[in-house]
Amino acid sequence: MDTQAFIQQHIAEIKDTVGTAKAVVALSGGVDSATTAALAHRAIGDHLVSIFIDDGLMREGEGPAVAEDFAKLGIKVGIVDAQDEFFAALKGLEDPEEKRKAFRHTFYTVLGRLVKESGAMCLLQGTIAADILETQRGVKTQHNILEQIGLDPQQWGLMVLEPLKELFKPQVREVAAALSLPEGMHQRMPFPGPGLATRVIGEVTPGRVETLRRATSIVEQETADLKLFQAFAVLLRDRATGLKGDGRAFGQIIAVRCVASTDAMTASVVEVPWDTLRRIQERITAEVADVTKVLYDITPKPPSTIEYI
Ligand code: XMP
Repeated sequence: MDTQAFIQQHIAEIKDTVGTAKAVVALSGGVDSATTAALAHRAIGDHLVSIFIDDGLMREGEGPAVAEDFAKLGIKVGIVDAQDEFFAALKGLEDPEEKRKAFRHTFYTVLGRLVKESGAMCLLQGTIAADILETQRGVKTQHNILEQIGLDPQQWGLMVLEPLKELFKPQVREVAAALSLPEGMHQRMPFPGPGLATRVIGEVTPGRVETLRRATSIVEQETADLKLFQAFAVLLRDRATGLKGDGRAFGQIIAVRCVASTDAMTASVVEVPWDTLRRIQERITAEVADVTKVLYDITPKPPSTIEYI
């Protein structure tokens, strides 16, 4: 791919489509939406409205970190607190696709409202080729695939631009680097649209997400020096008897997953050094309330997928 030609072509396309109107981009902290925003900002400058929807399903400190990173690039990000709406929509749901649907519906309801309020006529999405392929293959519905899931943005009088939809992750990272996004941002691990909800088996409640968020931070901190595609924690629905303090505890179970991949279509399991795994276990059982067991997932993709729902 000729990265510079790609950038010039898409800047021109966004300029032509948006003109002097406004466009909205929703950032997630991931490289796809960050690259889309940086590209659009080059094209239309302050006509781009960048928002971060706080759905309560993000990693620790994600919103303020995104806003800070983008401020350094001259892009102002508005953080919108929609946590209650997302948790209300997810309440009582246990089926993976039901949870994805509830997330998606809430996401587009909130986003639609914000777009309307902003007066924008265009929505920029960071959809990439892998999202489209996985949805077409029916593996799972990725939340940002509007057309394929029967959502019609024209209902909202909106045009949708997906400038990265022909690229795979490594190419997106190349574009991000060429747009001068900081390395921490373009080498950031992929994080799914529905956030920590893809890693909570069973009902997604604020308390369960908080347990997972703490465990996720520990896994990210302890694996920061390893070369891998994604490293994260998962909260299982089962419980296991363990010993906490002076007595028996029927506690929660965290699975740890570390995978290597280039494009997320296949993935292998990383042979994380034993010392690292032991430290992860020690920290999670000591620092995360109610967890009595930590497992390491040794399943590649296929037959597994990377995420758990
Ligand atoms: P799976 O679990 O299908 O994940 O092997 C492949 C890659 O996609 C990410 N992923 C998502 N990204 N919205 C996204 O933007 C989603 O709904 C979604 N589900 C999975 C996952 O983290 C992995 O990198």
